[in-house]
Amino acid sequence: LELEREDKDLLGKKILITAGPTVESIDPVRFITNHSSGKMGYALAEAASKRGAKVTLVSGPTNLTPPCHVKFISIKSTLDMYEAVMSNFRQQDIIIKSAAVADYRPKDVVDKKIKKQEGDLSITLVRNPDILLELGKIKDDRVLVGFAAETDHLIEYAKEKIIKKNLDFIVANDVTQQGAGFGTDTNIVCLIDKNNHIKKIDKATKLEIAHQILNKTKEFYQ
Ligand code: CTP
Ligand code: CA
Repeated sequence: LELEREDKDLLGKKILITAGPTVESIDPVRFITNHSSGKMGYALAEAASKRGAKVTLVSGPTNLTPPCHVKFISIKSTLDMYEAVMSNFRQQDIIIKSAAVADYRPKDVVDKKIKKQEGDLSITLVRNPDILLELGKIKDDRVLVGFAAETDHLIEYAKEKIIKKNLDFIVANDVTQQGAGFGTDTNIVCLIDKNNHIKKIDKATKLEIAHQILNKTKEFYQ
């Protein structure tokens, strides 16, 4: 019923969604990544598209099929995602950053497979750009939504990210809870906005949560 009421309420809105993990190469056969399945971001893309939005989905490697009718941009590394997001940012009304972005990448990517040697191996990691932080500096009246997956101090850390990254709101989830976080079809989240309004959403499917996130964006666009 709620879905019927929401039908096509985002008609013509341009929404950029990032999803999945980013992957950082060490050598031609090895990489660093994280447990993101992409399910939350793909659910957002599907929900937004059904509601009439023009969706651009920038995604790291996942096992999922992108929804029909979205502009799909496949990327691997954080630097790839940074470029894809920046070159598509200007025309957007809403940006939702659900991707689990690698904060660091190996300093040197060697083009030959690293051979094992006696003793330990150290890999120096350098900081990746914080894409959401950069978007926060240039957002103007675009709606900017971040995610915070935490294992502790959920509300406190999430609130810090809203301020630091100039977000309208953040989707905070405690990844240690059953039925929440990586790989699951359900999630348990809190929507915390820049005015300190907190909305707890009980365990629900990622698609249901996607619709709630999209509902919340309406409070912030003109
Ligand atoms: N994010 C990003 N670019 C990065 C790191 C994170 O755009 N290099 C975005 C994520 O997509 C997410 C939000 O920032 O929407 C929060 O990511 P998170 O990893 O929780 O926060 P960090 O700022 O990286 O802090 P930390 O990992 O130390 O908790
Ligand atoms: Ca991080």
